[in-house]
Amino acid sequence: MQQSFDLFFASSNSHKYQEAKKILDLFGIKLGFFKSDLEEIQSNSLKDIASKKAKDAFSKCKKPVIIEDDGLFINSLNGFPGPYSSYVFKTIGNKGILDLLKNNRNAKFVSIITYYDKNFLESFDGKLDGTISKYQKGKGWGYDPIFIPKNSKKTFAELNDKNELSHRYKALKKFSNWYLHK
Ligand code: IMP
Repeated sequence: MQQSFDLFFASSNSHKYQEAKKILDLFGIKLGFFKSDLEEIQSNSLKDIASKKAKDAFSKCKKPVIIEDDGLFINSLNGFPGPYSSYVFKTIGNKGILDLLKNNRNAKFVSIITYYDKNFLESFDGKLDGTISKYQKGKGWGYDPIFIPKNSKKTFAELNDKNELSHRYKALKKFSNWYLHK
């Protein structure tokens, strides 16, 4: 039996989709997965990257879509890797980031969720302050083993309630509020 979805999450990253689905379930929104490799423009703006991707995804999926673009911004590296977080993860990875850092380990995760359905193009952000751990801790995807959210001693990878406080949760909460009242 085919399930009916309110909208689709276009991404090649199934971890992000699984988390987004669980979060939107809390708000009563049914999220399908449109697995696709979307072209990413070079830009310093996560919002511009996400908007371009959302239009691209809609042209392929033909259904209302959301796109997420994230960045890990490290203070002592002047915000690097920021919009280049995906490339940096693929090249130097968590070990490379740990090797670059000394005393100041403050960082923030930013999520931009962009919705597109031909009539609306809307973006919502979620920011979460934290620090970069000294070692990789816990098993998780992406930067989860090195990101410690503010007021926690555990990395994202060690937490059970990541989906209740993450940058993704914050952006999707704002999105849901808008989507359910539009
Ligand atoms: P993207 O360009 O939006 O796919 O994300 C930038 C980078 O941040 C990718 O390497 C992602 O795997 C990583 N990333 C985004 N969100 C998270 C998260 O919640 N946990 C761990 N890594 C993440």
